[in-house]
Amino acid sequence: MRGLIPLAALLPAAAVAAPDGKAIFTRCAACHTATGAGVPGAYPPLGADFRALAAKPEGRRYLALAVIKGLAGPLTIEGKPYRGVMPAQGGLDEASVAAVLNHVGTAIAKTGPAFKPFSAAEIAGYKAKAGSMTGADVAKLHATAEGK
Ligand code: HEC
Repeated sequence: MRGLIPLAALLPAAAVAAPDGKAIFTRCAACHTATGAGVPGAYPPLGADFRALAAKPEGRRYLALAVIKGLAGPLTIEGKPYRGVMPAQGGLDEASVAAVLNHVGTAIAKTGPAFKPFSAAEIAGYKAKAGSMTGADVAKLHATAEGK
């Protein structure tokens, strides 16, 4: 209709900008801790293993699906065994999943290979092919991605 101001023009810039990965990470920090150091044997660190996984196609798929579908080990991460359950992180759209993974890859996980950011389109691709995968199915991708 003529004379109407488009809604986007009325919203503060933040409302239409990319999701804030740092803010989303606060929910991850409840388990993985604010620094991402984790709790040995219970909550794995988000560190060198994360960056190593993010450098490989199968690892990137694993990281995205861990957030979307959840994770149920057994897993071995940085030499320590984990047999926990990470619940699927509901309520995050593709751009939000990408944003939180990018926050981890740049601000939390500081060692390991160079980090290549995730895009919302990349996350959408993994999601579209995930079907009825469970957290246990996702956990199996960890060993595949690490070539073990
Ligand atoms: C309720 C606790 C909890 C929350 C909240 C949580 N996680 Fe986890 N996360 C876990 C547990 C437990 C594991 C290990 C699962 C296992 O033992 O199979 C894990 C594993 C992971 C892994 C696998 C690490 C690796 O090196 O293989 C990633 C990546 C991860 N979480 C990212 C996230 C992100 C990102 C968020 C926030 C969006 C998040 N987690 C929120 C508990 C949690």
